[in-house]
Amino acid sequence: MPGIFMFDAYGTLFDVHSAVMRAGASLGPKAGELSALWRAKQLEYSWTLTAMGQSASADFWQLTQRALDFALERFDVREPALRSALLDAYRTLNAFAEVPDTLSQLKATGHRTAIFTNGTRGMIEDAIRAAHLGRLIDQVITVEETGVFKPAMSVYAHAAQAAGMTSRREITFFSSNRWDVAGAAAAGFSPIWVNRAGQPDEYPALAPLRVIPDLRNLLA
Ligand code: LAC
Repeated sequence: MPGIFMFDAYGTLFDVHSAVMRAGASLGPKAGELSALWRAKQLEYSWTLTAMGQSASADFWQLTQRALDFALERFDVREPALRSALLDAYRTLNAFAEVPDTLSQLKATGHRTAIFTNGTRGMIEDAIRAAHLGRLIDQVITVEETGVFKPAMSVYAHAAQAAGMTSRREITFFSSNRWDVAGAAAAGFSPIWVNRAGQPDEYPALAPLRVIPDLRNLLA
């Protein structure tokens, strides 16, 4: 595959549910649902604010905190220490198990790698450092300079420009988020859907080039 290998961050390289898994033991049986609601609200806020033209009012870290506050209140959890532990854990999420090997293989075979994410640079730098991926990622591209969130077309244009890619087809973009794959397809990238959760397909007019279950064996 030519060009650049570009990866979405949350849900694709980093497991968003590892924060609750690691720091949320005291939540008991509601842990899974709370984690899912946290993620769902974080994304909802990014979409709604972008659609309303209000996305410059908050960055992705602020949305992550607001979404957690909603989820904690919804599940009647009022523990400031737990809130703070969950947010700390979100800054240092686990990378999915295959990610270091995959990125090492890409680098060893001379490929360029980048992250393209809604996350703030600070969030992503913390996550990269915690997962020891620093030497394996050539470039971090965030939506921050655009003032909007994915899947606004302007953020994909920004990613292509920041990566210096005049041919968008040569951007092989991996995301586990089907709506992000749809955005990348609409923008003319070569998207690959990392369907980690075995979800049914969506967005039929904006299809990925390939569907893979995880990031193993990308060069096979
Ligand atoms: C990101 C979100 C979409 O990393 O997960 O951009």
